[in-house]
Amino acid sequence: MPDKILVTSALPYANGPIHIGHLVEYIQTDIYVRFHRMAGRRCLYFCADDTHGTAVMLSAKAAGISPEEWIAQVHKEHVEDFSRFLISFDNYYSTHSPENRYFSELIFQRLKAAGSIIKRPVEQAYCEHCRMSLPDRYIRGTCPRCKAPDQYGDCCEVCGATYRPTDLLDPYCATCKTKPTTRTSEHYFFRLADYQDQLRALICSGYTPKTVANKLEEWFAAGLRDWDISRDGPYFGFLIPGEKDKYFYVWLDAPIGYMASAKNYFDRMGEDFSEVWPGPSSASPTTDWQIHHFIGKDIMYFHALFWPAMLIGAGFKAPDRLFVHGFLTVNGEKMSKSRGTFIKAQTFAKHLNPEFLRYYYASKLSDNLDDIDLSTEDLVSKINADLVGKFANLASRSIQLLHAGLRGRLGQLDPTGSNLFGTLVQAREEIASDYEGLRFSSVVRRVLDLADQADRFLEARKPWDLVKTAPEQARDVLTAGINAVKCLATYLKPVIPTFAAKIEQMLCVGPLDLSNIDQPLQGTVIGPFQRLFERVDPKEVQRMIEETKSSGDQQPPSPTADHAPAMFKPECTIEDFDKLDIRVARVISAERVQGADKLLRLLIDVGGTQKTVFAGIAKAYQPEQLTGRLVVYLANLRPRKMRFGLSEGMILAAGPGDGQVYLLAPDPGAQPGQKVT
Ligand code: 2FM
Ligand code: ZN
Repeated sequence: MPDKILVTSALPYANGPIHIGHLVEYIQTDIYVRFHRMAGRRCLYFCADDTHGTAVMLSAKAAGISPEEWIAQVHKEHVEDFSRFLISFDNYYSTHSPENRYFSELIFQRLKAAGSIIKRPVEQAYCEHCRMSLPDRYIRGTCPRCKAPDQYGDCCEVCGATYRPTDLLDPYCATCKTKPTTRTSEHYFFRLADYQDQLRALICSGYTPKTVANKLEEWFAAGLRDWDISRDGPYFGFLIPGEKDKYFYVWLDAPIGYMASAKNYFDRMGEDFSEVWPGPSSASPTTDWQIHHFIGKDIMYFHALFWPAMLIGAGFKAPDRLFVHGFLTVNGEKMSKSRGTFIKAQTFAKHLNPEFLRYYYASKLSDNLDDIDLSTEDLVSKINADLVGKFANLASRSIQLLHAGLRGRLGQLDPTGSNLFGTLVQAREEIASDYEGLRFSSVVRRVLDLADQADRFLEARKPWDLVKTAPEQARDVLTAGINAVKCLATYLKPVIPTFAAKIEQMLCVGPLDLSNIDQPLQGTVIGPFQRLFERVDPKEVQRMIEETKSSGDQQPPSPTADHAPAMFKPECTIEDFDKLDIRVARVISAERVQGADKLLRLLIDVGGTQKTVFAGIAKAYQPEQLTGRLVVYLANLRPRKMRFGLSEGMILAAGPGDGQVYLLAPDPGAQPGQKVT
């Protein structure tokens, strides 16, 4: 292992809150970083908000603020979330920064000078109404293969076909529904294939885990295609040098954000960044720093190919290690807003101690790309059995008894106590190697096993009885127990740092680390006991899930959120609104629809005219509750032929979806047929 490591996690989009899915990676990286620091290495952890792209631009617009204001607000929230979960960044920066602009321009110019950038015309979809080019995910239409309606511009979620947006049948702009036109525009491309040999060599040198290397071989075999690195305005990003309305694609400047964050840090510290991450103008091309990236498996292509190729092409040091993890599922399924499992970091921290999640993820994480599952039942049982029942219990029993009966003074390790201590210290190499190899679940298993041994030792020696008959023996037994707690806290320090800090305070010792783990505490006086972990009531987890279900948040964007639709609709004019004929109506009758358990058939009176509407409210309302009730009705929605009959309009309701709906109702006094303005 090198003794200087620069570590990064993927930069989260500045387009939504941090959630427990994101936290898998930040917790994994943070444990790794904290371990190296505890092992005496200089390990610096850098990250930033990924601020550019269409999604951010549209979100800011919808919120009626500038993109700069939007990203400043999101930055503040992200910093708060990360600090709640004890993510120990040395710098959490922004890709919308002068350093990032500088390096993006520099890398682009150097790639251009190396002949790796070419320009060629591209046909792209354009929305005349929104006056912007439409990224693939902003166009929808009918799949050219299976004819499923409402599919994205790049792939079909029904049959899995991938295609170009221009292949979609009946395409429309995802934001305003207008049919896009086609425009041709000059774009910049990075010739990735120029770097195939260097990339192969990097991968052979152990840049990626084996499974990733195999995947890369498939990509090499398929041929490396040129990468479109420019986007036409309007776009929130960095203008390409020499252009008036063409910007770097967000994915070009995002990884450069790793450098920018580090550069900003080293400049502030008065250290020479070019010695850390050598580039074209460095005095020496070598460095004693290694660069380790952590990412999820969805963004492998960018980090295994584009990013190192850009660095190599521009004359910068390529990264040394790429660690890739799988996705998070909750209770065996994809996180979902309607199931209440799309839990925001902030919501988790409101209901449960963030160290619980750190410990739980550590107990599940290993060095592979497998998805990890958070089972809420298992979470509660691990917290109560391990954190409360083992680690906290061992500490509280030993420390409290030493205080209560023996004035808090430690004795000496007797022969059996020394044996126990020796066993605990001996695990150091294996635990360190597990941490370095990202086998955190193995670390947790080993530490639990050691805790069991300490527990058995106390059960056998019974200091609570000895204290009455042979207090000095009890003191020595408790000294062994407390030294076991010291070792366990050291091993767990990267995972649950607050727990370890409390143990340090109680034992009146300096920072616990791997170098002092073999030095027993003997003969000193320890501080008073502090509470460590509280048991979790499963009802608290349920409350967290209910809160997530009922929060008004939109489902956070997918990992490829640059392409995902914005969280809010763009603004509309009063003329747009006037197109809607919204009326008050009274329900005359409601009945269930055979063969469609979500639907009710409503007969409504709209001021003398009767209409039939099918509404997806059967899970939330009984038909008999609705008779006579006033509702809000969209009258001029194009009638829709359904299997069960014609639906003539729509009843308006709010709610997160999936059956959970709340009908909108006018205040008493409104009359059927009246227009809603
Ligand atoms: O997938 C994502 O969420 C991206 N924002 C990750 C960027 S990582 C790096 F390249 F900046
Ligand atoms: Zn549009």
